[in-house]
Amino acid sequence: MELFIDSANPEEVIEAYATGMINGVTTNPSLAAKAGIPYKEAVQKIIKAVQGPISLEVLSTEFKGMVEEGRKLIKYGENVVVKIPMTVDGIKATQILKHEGINVNMTLVFSTYQALLAAKAGADYVSPFVGRLDDGGTQGMQMIEEIRQSYDNYGFETKILVASVRSTLHVEESSIYGADVATIPPGVFWKLFEHPLSKLGLEQFLKDFKEAGVEPLV
Ligand code: E4P
Repeated sequence: MELFIDSANPEEVIEAYATGMINGVTTNPSLAAKAGIPYKEAVQKIIKAVQGPISLEVLSTEFKGMVEEGRKLIKYGENVVVKIPMTVDGIKATQILKHEGINVNMTLVFSTYQALLAAKAGADYVSPFVGRLDDGGTQGMQMIEEIRQSYDNYGFETKILVASVRSTLHVEESSIYGADVATIPPGVFWKLFEHPLSKLGLEQFLKDFKEAGVEPLV
């Protein structure tokens, strides 16, 4: 499973990318608002630093505007994936952009039937928002299991990109349910490296070694 970082802040992206565990980046207009530097500059820095797909979201809500924005967004770099919201216009725009060979990530997906439309339209990625469903009292990860089943039934190649990730459990379950990608906010990403027993175990190993006065090998 690939891991993307869900941030438009170049410092956060570059720090996470340096671990070698990050395969791509997702942004959205809310994240752009929190980038910390002008958005254009942030995107240029991220595209320069990261080898892998970078999702940039359109702001238009009608399909002609989405298509025009998509054509312009890909000029930022050949690894740009145009993020299109799940609406009727979004589905139309996705088909036109795909016809032109432009990669699309269909965002704001909250159901298996919406994911089916995204795949039929030819989207490269579908972004089901699990955390926001959880917030509303529905089990978001169940949707991932269902989309995997639906796509496998028909051989759709659209990649399931789990979005709105709120916890390490979301990442763990993404891998169990066969998601292709999880896009992870920095706060959750760094927690993936941790377990209380890893920390305690390391402290104990070093303490035992030191207290016994063992001569180090190197
Ligand atoms: C990424 O593609 C999504 O836009 C993002 O994960 C949404 O996360 P949120 O629900 O925490 O805002």
